Amino acid sequence: MVELEDIWFRLAIDHLHLGLLIIDRKGRIQICNRALSGMTGLKENEILDRSLAAVSGSREHGHNKLLQTINTGREFQDLNPETVLPVTGLFACTVSTRVIRNRSGIPIGAMAVFIPAGRQQELENAVVKAEKLAILGQMTAGMVHEIRNPLTSISGFLQLLQEYLKGTPKEEYVTLMLAELKHVNSLIADFLQLSKPGYAKRARCSISKVITDVVMLVESEAFLRKLDIKLDMATDIPAILGDSDQLKQVFLNIFKNALDALSHGGVILLQALWNGPEKSVQVIITDTGTGMDEQTMANIFDPFFTTKESGTGLGMFIIKKIIDNHNGRIEIQSTPGEGTTVTVLLPAGL
Ligand SMILES: Nc1ncnc2c1ncn2[C@@H]1O[C@H](COP(=O)(O)OP(=O)(O)O)[C@@H](O)[C@H]1O
Ligand SMILES: [Mg+2]
Repeated sequence: MVELEDIWFRLAIDHLHLGLLIIDRKGRIQICNRALSGMTGLKENEILDRSLAAVSGSREHGHNKLLQTINTGREFQDLNPETVLPVTGLFACTVSTRVIRNRSGIPIGAMAVFIPAGRQQELENAVVKAEKLAILGQMTAGMVHEIRNPLTSISGFLQLLQEYLKGTPKEEYVTLMLAELKHVNSLIADFLQLSKPGYAKRARCSISKVITDVVMLVESEAFLRKLDIKLDMATDIPAILGDSDQLKQVFLNIFKNALDALSHGGVILLQALWNGPEKSVQVIITDTGTGMDEQTMANIFDPFFTTKESGTGLGMFIIKKIIDNHNGRIEIQSTPGEGTTVTVLLPAGL
């Protein structure tokens, strides 16, 4: 009887974009996946259990690199595919060979992986790009930290100077400098959020708890500014898999934007519910604030895009990144002069 596991295994290797050839210790072909059939024109059922030496037409014994791997234990990389099998010219590729060992470490076969040339280039480029970004991220985070310390002392001494210059015409300069410093500091704070690892934790977390925590943080500011926060949270919301600190960041940023948009009073309505068809937790934050025009909507997720005098333009950019990392979605509807609705959908961690 065919085991279920075997079926999945078979499907998996046939869906690989890489050609896969596996031989046993005697050099007989045991697996030739679909991609390899495409590259070579060889059909698996025609070559199964036949000796690789015969199929590949190797004249001298040991000439075939995959047979060399099984006979000597030596593994190869970046081979010309012809050293293992005749490959039709249409598919440029390189080949690597590996010994296959059983759980006790005894060689029981060998495999050759045929990597299509374009694909390999793509993989290499992706790796180089990811490495560059990681290094850049680390360097930036380090540098930003270093900038923060001198700023603290500059700001401290400026405050002393401000006392000293109080009532003189020069006081205004210091006030301006302090305001600029505050701006640089908020840029740095947002920047440091960015350089944190993308998806640090992955634990079950309750969106209701995340939202209640965030509301507690913004409540006093809303109260001072005479803004109303209305909460409407369903009780049947399942837990999701995610990083609760990062999700707090998301809702805090959305809340802050709503507060900023409500300079002349108004209401923030927050709804949370379970969206059955999408199998997602849905959070909707509506404000009756300034709203956005089309141009703002088109740029809202761009880093450093801001319409505020003291904005950083990093809030929505960070939000988008975090939601993407949680395989979620964010939608924004806005009417100038009427208000904005931000909807966040986060898939349940089933
Ligand atoms: N709820 C909202 N109402 C009106 N405009 C908004 C709202 N949320 C975001 N925006 C617009 O999107 C821009 C970018 O937001 P964000 O990335 O958080 O940066 P910042 O808040 O620092 O400006 C804001 O400057 C603002 O123009
Ligand atoms: Mg913001």
